[in-house]
Amino acid sequence: MAKPLLEVKDLHTFFKTVDGTVKAVNGVSFEVEEGRVLGIVGESGSGKTVTALSIMQLVPHPGKVIQGSVLFAGQELVGLGEKAMRGLRGRELSMVFQNAAEALNPVIPVGDQITEVVHQHMKTSFREARALAASLLTQMGIPDAKALLESYPYQISGGMAQRVMLAMGIALKPRLLIADEPTSNLDVTVQAEILHRLEQQRKENNASVLLITHDLGVIAQMAQEVVIMYGGRVMERADTRGLYARPRHPYTAALLKAIPRVDSAGSRLQAIKGSLPKMIDPPDQCPYLERCTRAINSCRTGSMPKLAVAEPGHMVACYNPIPKPT
Ligand SMILES: Nc1ncnc2c1ncn2[C@@H]1O[C@H](COP(=O)(O)OP(=O)(O)O)[C@@H](O)[C@H]1O
Ligand SMILES: [Mg+2]
Repeated sequence: MAKPLLEVKDLHTFFKTVDGTVKAVNGVSFEVEEGRVLGIVGESGSGKTVTALSIMQLVPHPGKVIQGSVLFAGQELVGLGEKAMRGLRGRELSMVFQNAAEALNPVIPVGDQITEVVHQHMKTSFREARALAASLLTQMGIPDAKALLESYPYQISGGMAQRVMLAMGIALKPRLLIADEPTSNLDVTVQAEILHRLEQQRKENNASVLLITHDLGVIAQMAQEVVIMYGGRVMERADTRGLYARPRHPYTAALLKAIPRVDSAGSRLQAIKGSLPKMIDPPDQCPYLERCTRAINSCRTGSMPKLAVAEPGHMVACYNPIPKPT
């Protein structure tokens, strides 16, 4: 098998605060293959964004990658200097942030912001960069790209802002695009349209995508593989079909049950009973223990179970996984 484009191994990213250590990412491993889409799913606070920021080497102070490795095309990114990272960001790996509208500079017209990115990285003339910016917006399904280029961020809708951010994210044809909740807070039709455009662009460039979402419907539509995160840990990892058909972790099963009917509008997660896990100085146990209906004695006495192969291409971190249906 070809080497994966991105290999995250045993990643630990902690925030040392006055209240204790927030273990936002607590031993996470996964791979993204060339030209594939990997989804990361988890409820709010499970460590998805911090995982993405750790890959980009953009974890804000006082957060720090304290252990583990991020290999991108074989190159170690953890501890790589800021200068070298800048050379990679944008062209090799690029990230579209959650809350697109907030990520745009409010006092600069949208077009100037995209043009600047293209101009800087591609070393094109300002004019060429502007033309490319317009064509990118058109490709993202924006009908009047010229008018949008002249607009200020406050003049455009959330959906438009997301398209602009995605256009910027794919402008430089990165080998890996990290999209952090690219369509949350958008209505379903806009969401579908944006995902469709994203997939078109991805195919055209044979790019890999790390798609972060709390929406299992989006994953079903876009991703070939899924990582289920909870409390800074990976609970389960599998190909999308296998995971939906035969979830092995009780948490995954609860998540899937929480999806409203497929034919209803949207498929946002409904709440699962119980409270979210402790992130500050958590015990070395399964973070789902408190909410789990399948918990056994080993779960209470043992440390966090290791991710183990449940069946080919399907891994689960659980002492009492759901048996494979016969
Ligand atoms: N700057 C920060 N300082 C302290 N804790 C943080 C900071 N950023 C994120 N966290 C904590 O890290 C955990 C994971 O957050 P995050 O990755 O944003 O979750 P998700 O993206 O899955 O919703 C949360 O408990 C959050 O409170
Ligand atoms: Mg997030």
